[in-house]
Amino acid sequence: MTFDDLRASSQGCLACDLSKRRTHVVFGEGDPKSPLVLIGEGPGEYEDKAGRPFVGRSGKLLDKAIEEAGLRREDLYITNTVKCRAADWSTGRPVNRPPTEAEVEACRQWLVPQLGMIQPKVILCIGAPSAKNLIKKSFQITKERGLYFPCEFARTAIATLHPSYILRNMHDGGDGGYSLLVADIKKAWAAAERLMRDPEKTLPEKQGSLF
Ligand code: URA
Repeated sequence: MTFDDLRASSQGCLACDLSKRRTHVVFGEGDPKSPLVLIGEGPGEYEDKAGRPFVGRSGKLLDKAIEEAGLRREDLYITNTVKCRAADWSTGRPVNRPPTEAEVEACRQWLVPQLGMIQPKVILCIGAPSAKNLIKKSFQITKERGLYFPCEFARTAIATLHPSYILRNMHDGGDGGYSLLVADIKKAWAAAERLMRDPEKTLPEKQGSLF
């Protein structure tokens, strides 16, 4: 199966109830040969409409941070742990909600082969839910962001603040943690480049140190 075959078969997924209300399965986009994969939680309203990850308000901030880190979106691969929008429809108007454990579990049938084909050197988890899913259940974003962790799907994984968290915290002239997002993207890319040049490079003993 090729990467395109995998993407194509994901489009008809009926593995969980999110399939009932979705507009698009948001598989992911970017360079599937990139050494760095960014993984968010799941698509929101705009992503569901567009069929592309991180295109709403959070996505615009992420784009700005990627650019400020000296990269282009096309240099990376961007996806989510869950490929369909999770929303609460009980009031008639959909309100975004975190995906349930069962939805995350059902979606691993796409995420696992997707990462198996990309074989990234580094995964950058965008936000706590992604880090809890891909690094460890007990992940604490404020204490452990920006550090290297072992990961099943890459040589190492790092987590950073979610742009929606940053947007909520930007007030009174504070940057809400935006500079940390830029620094973590730079750090993740530097590690990915280092591991490309020297695949045998061992991981730093101190999780916070640079490669
Ligand atoms: N938030 C996410 O976690 N992923 C997206 O694609 C958009 C917003």
